[in-house]
Amino acid sequence: MAQDLLTIGEVAHRSGLAVSAIRHYESLGLLASTRTGGNQRRFARSALRRIAVVQAAQRVGLSLAEIGEAFAAFPPDHAPTKRDWVRLGRRWGPRLDARIAQLEQVRDGLALCVGCGCLSMRQCAIYNPGDVLAGEGAGPRRIFPRDAGPGRER
Ligand code: FES
Repeated sequence: MAQDLLTIGEVAHRSGLAVSAIRHYESLGLLASTRTGGNQRRFARSALRRIAVVQAAQRVGLSLAEIGEAFAAFPPDHAPTKRDWVRLGRRWGPRLDARIAQLEQVRDGLALCVGCGCLSMRQCAIYNPGDVLAGEGAGPRRIFPRDAGPGRER
C-alpha cells in the first residue's frame, strides 16, 4: 500500500531528481509540501506527477517560469484532476505545435542551407547569398527565424 505522504528523499528517489532539485522546484512554487512537527518536508504522491510534467515540458523547451505560470492555475487545495491536466495540455498546445513544426523544419532542412553564415553548401549562394541572413540575427536563421533564435524562443 502506497504511503499518502512522501519524504523529500522518497520523492527524489522515485523521480530520479536530486534533493536539491526538489527544493528548487518547491521554491519556484512548482511543488508544495507540508511540514512535520520536526520541520521535515512531506509531499503528496501527486508531486510525482507534477515533476513528471515539469520534466516533459522542459524537454520540449518550456521554461520553469512558463511551467510555474501554468501550474498556478491549478486548484491549491487538491491534486490536479484529469480535467486540469487536459486544460494544461490545451494551454500548451500552440507552443507544442510550434515546437513540433520547428523540429520538422530541422529534420527536413539539415541537408539544405540553414542560413548559419558558413556559406559552405552549394545552395548557400541561392538561399543566403553573401550571408545576407546575418542581418536577421545570429545563428542559423532558416532554423530560428527572426527573434526566435536559441534562448529567445518565447
Ligand atoms: S548552410 Fe551555412 S550559410 Fe548556408
